[in-house]
Amino acid sequence: MISGYDHFVLLAESLQWDEKDIDHTADRAAWPQLTDTERSKVLGLIAGFVIAETAVSLELGSYEAAARDDSMEAAFRAQARDEARHARFFDLVAAEVAGIPGADAAARRDVLRTHVGPDLVDLFEERLPTTARRLADDHGVLTSAVGLYHMVIEGVVLLAGQHAMLDTLESLSTPLPGLRKGVELVLRDERWHIGFGSRIVQNADIGRDEADALLSQGEAAAKVWGDLITTEAIDAAVRQHKRRLKAAGIKFW
Ligand SMILES: [Fe+2]
Ligand SMILES: [Fe+2]
Repeated sequence: MISGYDHFVLLAESLQWDEKDIDHTADRAAWPQLTDTERSKVLGLIAGFVIAETAVSLELGSYEAAARDDSMEAAFRAQARDEARHARFFDLVAAEVAGIPGADAAARRDVLRTHVGPDLVDLFEERLPTTARRLADDHGVLTSAVGLYHMVIEGVVLLAGQHAMLDTLESLSTPLPGLRKGVELVLRDERWHIGFGSRIVQNADIGRDEADALLSQGEAAAKVWGDLITTEAIDAAVRQHKRRLKAAGIKFW
């Protein structure tokens, strides 16, 4: 019998893909032909994803440990497998398409941090780990930790970034088909992650303060991309965030 969060685990299983199967031959040939403006925009977005996906993949252990039942725990584990793959995919693009130097992913990440603003680095490398540590100490804060991770970070920051990346790729003078294919697959995974987090929030009893915090965190977090994402795209992401919170049964006073 299917119960709890099992259907997310089954869905994750049916959506598995391997970053090594994506062919970047055309991307490698296209990269030097892009204009400087195009290259710096795509690289800024890639840098943001390398930092974000690496950070999220490292923090799910605390969530898994705080899971309320076996099916929720299995879904966090399935999600961690996806996030590790996303981190590997964007690092591979950074190394092999964009030619970012570095002996390993950590060294390349040091280079890539210079391509994004401090707010993005702070959200993923300070605020998220702090929240995960708090969750490790007190499993009772699971709902608000999921609120930050699944609804704010994945539902607003990463989704807005993925849409901006797809729009940018659409407008390039020379296409990057391998990157596009991978971003579409990442986006498909992120949809179930957000659905899973929304279900956890829906099943919890959210009070007024927590609801207000989720909304204002979403509004602030959408801006961490700086000028890599348009104001219209940020507004759209915040509107969608609000709709998702309402759909999860959260009332706004
Ligand atoms: Fe991801
Ligand atoms: Fe995710």
